[in-house]
Amino acid sequence: MKKYLSILVLSVFCMAPASADEGMWLPSLISQRIGDMQAKGFTLTAEDIYSINQACLKDAVVHFGGGCTGELISPEGLLITNHHCGYGQIQRHSSVEHDYLRDGFWAMTRAEELPNPGLSVSFLEYMEDVTDKVLKGYKDGMSEEEREALVEKNSAKLVEEAVAEGKGLRASVEPLFYGNKYYMFVFRRYTDVRLVGAPPSSIGKFGGDTDNWMWPRHTGDFSIFRVYADKDNNPAAYSEDNVPYKPKKYFHIAAGGVKEGDFTFVYGFPGSTREYIMSEGVRYVSDVTNPAKIALRTMRLDVQKKYMDADQAVRIQYSSKNAGVSNAWKKWQGEMKGIVRLGTVARKQAFEASFMEWAEGTEYEGIIPALDSLYKALEPYNYALDYYNESARTIELVQFASRAVKAAEGGSDSALKAVEATFYKDYFLPIDKESFVAVMNAYKDNVPVDFRPPYFDSTLAVYGGSIEKWADDLFSASVFADRAALEAMDCAAVAALQDDPAVVFGREFTSWIGENIRPVVSRLNSEINLLNRDYVRGQMEFQPEKTFYPDANSTLRVAYGHIKGYSPSDGVYYMPFSTIEGIMEKDNPDIFDYNIPQRFRDIVASGDYGRWGHDGKVPVCFIATNHTSGGNSGSPVIDSKGRLIGINFDRVWEGTMSDIEFDPDFCRNISLDIRYVLFVIDMIGNADHLIDEMTIETE
Ligand code: ARG
Ligand code: GLU
Repeated sequence: MKKYLSILVLSVFCMAPASADEGMWLPSLISQRIGDMQAKGFTLTAEDIYSINQACLKDAVVHFGGGCTGELISPEGLLITNHHCGYGQIQRHSSVEHDYLRDGFWAMTRAEELPNPGLSVSFLEYMEDVTDKVLKGYKDGMSEEEREALVEKNSAKLVEEAVAEGKGLRASVEPLFYGNKYYMFVFRRYTDVRLVGAPPSSIGKFGGDTDNWMWPRHTGDFSIFRVYADKDNNPAAYSEDNVPYKPKKYFHIAAGGVKEGDFTFVYGFPGSTREYIMSEGVRYVSDVTNPAKIALRTMRLDVQKKYMDADQAVRIQYSSKNAGVSNAWKKWQGEMKGIVRLGTVARKQAFEASFMEWAEGTEYEGIIPALDSLYKALEPYNYALDYYNESARTIELVQFASRAVKAAEGGSDSALKAVEATFYKDYFLPIDKESFVAVMNAYKDNVPVDFRPPYFDSTLAVYGGSIEKWADDLFSASVFADRAALEAMDCAAVAALQDDPAVVFGREFTSWIGENIRPVVSRLNSEINLLNRDYVRGQMEFQPEKTFYPDANSTLRVAYGHIKGYSPSDGVYYMPFSTIEGIMEKDNPDIFDYNIPQRFRDIVASGDYGRWGHDGKVPVCFIATNHTSGGNSGSPVIDSKGRLIGINFDRVWEGTMSDIEFDPDFCRNISLDIRYVLFVIDMIGNADHLIDEMTIETE
């Protein structure tokens, strides 16, 4: 062990946060950070950020649709989030005749605002450390299963009490630090949320997937909604009688401009990070699963692109699906590169060596080797599951067939028809079939026989080993591929389609994976989780000087930093701001992703940017050092006085490994400058009635 001593000194140094800008902090504990925030320029108090006694910034932040963040920007319930967060809604309201994706949408009156069944936004009422209550009754020596059952039982009771009042209250208890702590989050959920405005995709998605995760960036990634409530300001299902929600707090907008070095604060719901896992878990990500998943998605994206480029109707049908596939595909690539560049695996190994030395004779002795062997045992199962999820489980027809049969078994013809209509609206069989051929061939080549359903190999044998022949047969024989035939059937007939090849495919895979792979993965993961609980606590004892923040888990967090450029590679420095000039540089009518609206070109040619010009330009995006993750999309970017200066929407590609290791030199969040938002609303959307609702400060 002695040989690790010099590494010990080094690794403790390396693993300690290199910059205080790293971190996603709990709002209710922000008083622990407020001194640092204020030293960096913030002028408000901890109570202004989070309070249960007074209206505060948290009251203007919502969890939007489950996966994004949004914020209130007017006293009449106006809400802003990203274009890509409202994308599904914008797309569902679009058709070839009313193509809001392409042309944008602006409600000129309240009556024109479009309802969105299924969409909700949640306001955090309060959060509370419930660790003692959740672990009440815990005794030393309890097994992990017993502990989990206890946690579940106690949590259910807490949740029940917390939502007793009704009125849209929802609550959940979430573990932090792998269950070293538990917090309860109580939300009020509003379900009448209407679409108010969206720029054309040529602005809202400018740069498309080419620019996604990249800097310099010029995407006008915002969309606007309005929250509606009943006459008492409480949540209510959609009704014409509902009225705009009156928020306890909404953001004032700072349109005076920002500069490098300015304090920034992102308030939102980051989804998932794993900063404290051991090297073996990181190695699986960078060396095993990311490369495999990337290769599978490349195949699907190639197929989609071919057909989307050829046909505008197919482009609309697949735009949202394509964006989803492409997004993680690109992020994983950046993440892999980042992990390799940082040498995260080796750094963690060195850290683990020193941790082991320290842990000798303590309760933490043996954790690292135990975790290591669990990760090794998990790997083939995890791989089989990840591979299945990115291949067999992506066949649209198969997924649809099982959804339709399930709906049919429910016995409601209207529910069945709704499932059918939603599916066929956005389905293009040639894409699905070609993707099937590509990903299932890869499945055949890359998943060991023992880790795949015998059904797969026996069926493949029937087709002489040819996935192509299998696909020909499945896509012509399945009734689900024949829209007219299926639509003519009632529930009883659809429920009887148990031998349809698409249904069989789905059932065989789901049940075999469900019986042979999932249980092992979840058992090993729960053992890993249990050890991680000790490992994180051990890390805290081992590094008493380090401040730990809990991994992201879709709960509300504060990340603060400042506007700052970066150097992505030798000899290159990226400035922190982009402007409308960059849009004109990229503009190209022949490239779908860079074809800005003609109106935009005319405005630039006239040089008249109304009140939104600064030094003859309009600012578009900026980057900063805030530690964000997926789910922070749409988060407010707040200045030192608590005002809205931007909308977070992405991270730079070289920094996407921040979910695993944050590097202050490379990790930057990308935000839309609020002045560009105002410019687009006003001069492209001609929707200045929306601006009139806002409180805009220019000083
Ligand atoms: N990368 C951003 C995020 O993770 C933006 C995604 C928008 N989607 C896209 N495919 N361009 O959500
Ligand atoms: N676009 C991401 C989202 O949907 C945010 C980017 C990130 O992962 O930081 O949340």
